[in-house]
Amino acid sequence: MRKIMVLGAGTMGSGIAQAAATAGFSVLLCDVAEEAVVHGFHVIEKNLSNAVKKGKLDEYEKKRILALIATTTEKSRAVEVDLVIEAIVENIDVKKKVLAELDEICPSHTILASNTSALSITEIARATKRPHQVIGMHFFNPVPVMKLVEVIRGEDASDETVEVIKELAEKMGKQPVDVKEAPGFIVNRILIPMINEAAFLLMEGVSSADDIDTAMKLGANHPIGPLALGDLVGLDVCLAIMETLYNETGDSKYRPCPLLRKKVRAGHLGRKSGQGFFVY
Ligand code: CAA
Ligand code: NAD
Repeated sequence: MRKIMVLGAGTMGSGIAQAAATAGFSVLLCDVAEEAVVHGFHVIEKNLSNAVKKGKLDEYEKKRILALIATTTEKSRAVEVDLVIEAIVENIDVKKKVLAELDEICPSHTILASNTSALSITEIARATKRPHQVIGMHFFNPVPVMKLVEVIRGEDASDETVEVIKELAEKMGKQPVDVKEAPGFIVNRILIPMINEAAFLLMEGVSSADDIDTAMKLGANHPIGPLALGDLVGLDVCLAIMETLYNETGDSKYRPCPLLRKKVRAGHLGRKSGQGFFVY
């Protein structure tokens, strides 16, 4: 494993690219939108400069890491890589279409990993002719800080693919956990319904956004409150995860909160759009 394409240069893609380059891998950061790759690269530069200011990294190391990251809007450059980690929009039809395209472009040894938050890896894998080399590699936000990677095994994934990805996660300084496919895997099955429940509390007028978050910070020792966490994740991503949990299980306990849906319809997606449950 030498060269990795990270497809999608948004919240997650830029973080994954930073972590991979920091671990010494050559990275191609790719997005459909030119402004997204420029912004994604800028976020990495800013993160590394902050680390230099704090004395956690020297200027030489920063330059070495940045030099390992190339940017592109040409998906065809996946022909150069040993692994693609896709971190594009959380929509199964888009992911299947893109994975099918990558399957045509990539060399036969290349592994295709998805950073999906909740979707079926088996279904995504079946869009390719290499389902044994397709896997879920689920990072957490913010990637440079969060230590976990869920390694999700679809029905046809090979043992070798699972082992290669677990080893890679460790090289990136992360702790991998094995997960069999199930909607939302481990963390999001527990975490996102909590954010959804906080949205219900707000919608019902039980308390203010500030007090709901203060309650969970001081009463449950969470580092940030559930509404601020929803804004960090992206409310569109939270809604997509709730919809997957609900559609896959048919269980009404996973019904998305109407306030969450309304925020997404308004384009109030959280930090990335400047407004969500809070204003930034
Ligand atoms: N990128 C890089 N580094 C970041 C960062 C970012 N976006 N945000 C914070 N950091 C770093 C800071 O630089 C700081 O580093 P140092 O320790 O080296 O100084 C450290 O993280 C702590 O940051 P702050 O002091 O600014 O703020 P904080 O103490 O409030 O921590 C936080 C911020 C790490 C985000 C913390 O609030 C936290 O852990 N929140 C919960 C995050 C969480 O639950 N993530 C999972 C979301 S679910 C998911 O990701 C899965 C999915 O599919 C939706
Ligand atoms: P984002 O909206 O911040 O970024 C997505 C990026 O993908 C955008 O820059 C967009 O231009 C690009 N994109 C969309 N379609 C594309 C295509 N066909 N080809 C190339 N690029 C394309 O989203 P995000 O929050 O980074 O989430 C990305 C993925 O990671 C989703 O599957 C999400 O569920 C998952 N995820 C998100 C979080 C989180 O906290 N935000 C955590 C873990 C996993």
